[in-house]
Amino acid sequence: MNGCDAGTFTVERVGDYAVAKPVRRIAECSSCSGTGLHRATIEDRGRRYEVSRACALSQLQGRLQLFNQAQLPAVHGQSAFETFRTPRYEAVARAKSIAHDFAHRWPQQRGFILSGPVGTGKTHLLAATLRHATIEMGVQAAYVEISLLYATIRRGFQEGKSGGEIIKPLSQVDLLAIDELGKGRGSPFELETLDELIARRYNAGKVTLFATNYALAPPEERARPMVGYESTDDRKESARESKQLCDRVGARIYSRLCEMCEFVEFPPDTTDHRRLRADNDVLRGAKAAPRPR
Ligand SMILES: Nc1ncnc2c1ncn2[C@@H]1O[C@H](COP(=O)(O)OP(=O)(O)OP(=O)(O)O)[C@@H](O)[C@H]1O
Ligand SMILES: [Mg+2]
Repeated sequence: MNGCDAGTFTVERVGDYAVAKPVRRIAECSSCSGTGLHRATIEDRGRRYEVSRACALSQLQGRLQLFNQAQLPAVHGQSAFETFRTPRYEAVARAKSIAHDFAHRWPQQRGFILSGPVGTGKTHLLAATLRHATIEMGVQAAYVEISLLYATIRRGFQEGKSGGEIIKPLSQVDLLAIDELGKGRGSPFELETLDELIARRYNAGKVTLFATNYALAPPEERARPMVGYESTDDRKESARESKQLCDRVGARIYSRLCEMCEFVEFPPDTTDHRRLRADNDVLRGAKAAPRPR
């Protein structure tokens, strides 16, 4: 125990983001008299020293700051492993287990990529992973939805900023979650931006997590060369129409993903939890409505 009781925290929506705050304030802490520090005695080579250490509440504040810096979407403020219902689909259960182990056994060498239909919990699991990694493990992390990143860079150009300037913090952060991979028009600007971000992280050995609605190639196809991908306009056109992630992001990026990540693909009939929730609300409303006499 670090001298004062850290208590717990809440997560609220503030603008577009989920923001965590401790329930107690350091000023109200009777154990550390609002200093945020507690005295501890350490022993070194037979000698005893009195030192000041951050109290439990100020440590919690530091970890909540890491959570806030990750910039998780407001709608995923309550997304945690505890709130992810154990799914009946084997692939989703596997994804939960991989994400859970990943977050609880940090540091890691390799990330994961979740692919599946809409509303199946991919962003929930990314958010749960970042929540645990920041608050429980003290990891510096960031979340980014890829099309919002492209929009931010485009806006930055108008303010005289380069794409590299905007990408730099994302390429350096210890843990990055990239959501909606493959989304966008597949323009040269988008592909170059993505290539730069992933190549920088790959070269630096940084761990990255991904979620996508596009299909992953089966393992036997991943090993095959992607002949002539970067060629004619016809091929580029068909890449834009493709439902395969490798077509959407190109051979260079896909090759790096294979090394950087464990692949998990949800089956096409996985439950869409948004629709499920809406259907349940309708049913509950129908039950609660007064019966006509
Ligand atoms: N297994 C689950 N248990 C509890 N809630 C879930 C589960 N799966 C999804 N949800 C909830 O359903 C909603 C949609 O999930 P989420 O945003 O993670 O879907 P997604 O797979 O990222 O969808 P999309 O591809 O559209 O981005 C969220 O509110 C999420 O918390
Ligand atoms: Mg999502």
